[in-house]
Amino acid sequence: MNPLLIKPPVMDWLTGAFAHTSALKKSTTAADLANVFSDEHARQRLDPNLIIYSVEMLDSSRDDGALFTGVTHLNPGKVGDEFFMTRGHYHARREQGEVYFGLRGSGLLLLQDEDGNARLETVMPGSIHIISGYTAHRLINTGNDILSALAVWPAVAGHNYAALQHGFALSVKERDRQVQVVSND
Ligand code: F6R
Ligand code: MN
Repeated sequence: MNPLLIKPPVMDWLTGAFAHTSALKKSTTAADLANVFSDEHARQRLDPNLIIYSVEMLDSSRDDGALFTGVTHLNPGKVGDEFFMTRGHYHARREQGEVYFGLRGSGLLLLQDEDGNARLETVMPGSIHIISGYTAHRLINTGNDILSALAVWPAVAGHNYAALQHGFALSVKERDRQVQVVSND
């Protein structure tokens, strides 16, 4: 075999599962998400070991200029009447952007600028989400199946969770069996 012919990592685009490659996996449980949902008592009633989401990342270069590739798998469910969601973050290097690609399931991407202006994009298989710098982002699963999204972002970006400890301007809840967007002011 030609040593210059390299077999790249492979992902199943229907599920977001990586194959033939070493991926790093981190799961986030109900216990990890204290004070993230509006109804903290409802969160405390969940099994602390319940996995809300997991992220699988390709084990790739961390050098300046390198890009990370990861898939988030966000389970369906609710805390009280609020849909399961990721913690959400700005990047530590705030000017750094990211691209999300919807793979399976249905949900929303909550985006918020530094002035607190929030907006939502619908996430579905094939959707493409250009997240600009200086924009906080959070995935929300409003469906009954796992929501999986591929992300590509600069290795230097990092995460800043502390800046959002008081939450986003919008919450997404189920009311009367409908998806409802609630303003938090
Ligand atoms: C990386 C990125 C995603 C998230 C993942 C989990 O910059 O945006 O890989 O890290 O969706 O969300 P958080 O990090 O908010 O718990
Ligand atoms: Mn990010």
